[in-house]
Amino acid sequence: MSQNEKRLAGEAALRYVEKGAVIGVGTGSTVAFFIDALASMKNDIQGAVSSSEQSTRQLKSHGIDVLDLNAVGPLDIYIDGADECDPHKRLIKGGGAALTREKIIASASKTFVCIMDSSKQVDVLGTFPLPVEVIPMARSHVAREISAMGGHPVWRDGVVTDNGNWILDVHGWRIVDPVGTENKLNQIVGVVTCGLFAARPADIVLVGDRVLG
Ligand code: A5P
Repeated sequence: MSQNEKRLAGEAALRYVEKGAVIGVGTGSTVAFFIDALASMKNDIQGAVSSSEQSTRQLKSHGIDVLDLNAVGPLDIYIDGADECDPHKRLIKGGGAALTREKIIASASKTFVCIMDSSKQVDVLGTFPLPVEVIPMARSHVAREISAMGGHPVWRDGVVTDNGNWILDVHGWRIVDPVGTENKLNQIVGVVTCGLFAARPADIVLVGDRVLG
């Protein structure tokens, strides 16, 4: 069921791809369906800006050009998945450890289309452990600061991000103020960014092929 919804969402996202555009592309199993669908339009687009090495490999395997964000400037559209989504289209992302590049591309894009299956919909964010990317030498310092905020950080041991950093997953948080929590976490010295996409939420959410109201 969930795989089918992911596939439907990935295919439905093609509606938002315009001819001649550079497409921002996220990371994950739902995006993998989108990239496969995008291959059918590869001659109609300029290329893609990718949020991870994983997506870059898949894009290139289809012959889709992967472009540098610095070279192409602001994007019209960014398409990516999520780990959780609340009714205000605020998200938790980073289950695949690609959160920082994802947040950069989301921030540089006019429209962020989030694609997902219905298991990702929640009333309040926080059941999914919140990923936080940290500079390796700051891991313990950041963990102590997060503990003082009431979270339970767990080091994702063995995972190194595409940026060479580490991930703390924060358990046990009911995030009632996502924008405030995002800002506070991002102020901790040693945090690269956190996986809350609340200050810049999604603009459009597709659950399967259904647009969330
Ligand atoms: C990657 O770091 C994440 O933000 C993904 O977007 C998220 O984990 C969604 O993944 P799936 O599409 O695999 O569920």
